[in-house]
Amino acid sequence: MAKASPIDLDTDHLLKRVETIYTKLVESPEGEFHFNHGPDYACELLGYDRAEIESLPAECTARFAGLGNPLDIGPVEPGETVVDIGSGAGMDLLLAARKTGPRGKAIGVDPTPGMRARAAEFAREAGLSEIVELREGRSDALPVDDASVDLVISNGVINLATDKSLAFKEIARVLKPGGRLYLADVLLDEELSEKSQRDADLWAA
Ligand SMILES: C[S@@+](CC[C@H](N)C(=O)[O-])C[C@H]1O[C@@H](n2cnc3c(N)ncnc32)[C@H](O)[C@@H]1O
Repeated sequence: MAKASPIDLDTDHLLKRVETIYTKLVESPEGEFHFNHGPDYACELLGYDRAEIESLPAECTARFAGLGNPLDIGPVEPGETVVDIGSGAGMDLLLAARKTGPRGKAIGVDPTPGMRARAAEFAREAGLSEIVELREGRSDALPVDDASVDLVISNGVINLATDKSLAFKEIARVLKPGGRLYLADVLLDEELSEKSQRDADLWAA
């Protein structure tokens, strides 16, 4: 049993559960899920701009499963290098790519092969493939050079990381001096019981 979390958690099982859940989302977004997803959720509950969302491929926004709107936190300047940790089907990644434009770069990092493949396809459809790049990886080992990134964004992903302090160390490693983090995620205001913390199925949910 791999142990990369603060407590005795079966992280291999957790990583498999996460991949199974998000493979199901990318293959069948019309299915039943324990979390909200899709464009109406993004616009009505999270405040995304409907015109912007409708300008993206509908198959991309159908697979959106974030928890907030990281791009609402601050600007993306033209020419910046942006990394989206857990880019999923690419909705935030494509929005960031449009903002950084042809002089910039938007790198999506995701462990789920189906998500990376579809995000790359949606980038091509949106005319952004020169700006967007998909890389296999996870928050605890970003496939990104030291001090090479202006902005890290992430939406609903760090809560899935087995080692959150490592994820933040990785973010600090890849950011240039003065770089920014726009993070949308879950915050708990009380400690979970050890039993809950050890429950990989609950964690993956
Ligand atoms: C909740 S979805 C969010 C996707 C995207 N950010 C969005 O807003 O639609 C979670 C995504 O994060 C990926 N993921 C899960 N664990 C991860 C980790 N430890 N590091 C990076 N990505 C991860 C999954 O493969 C999935 O595509």
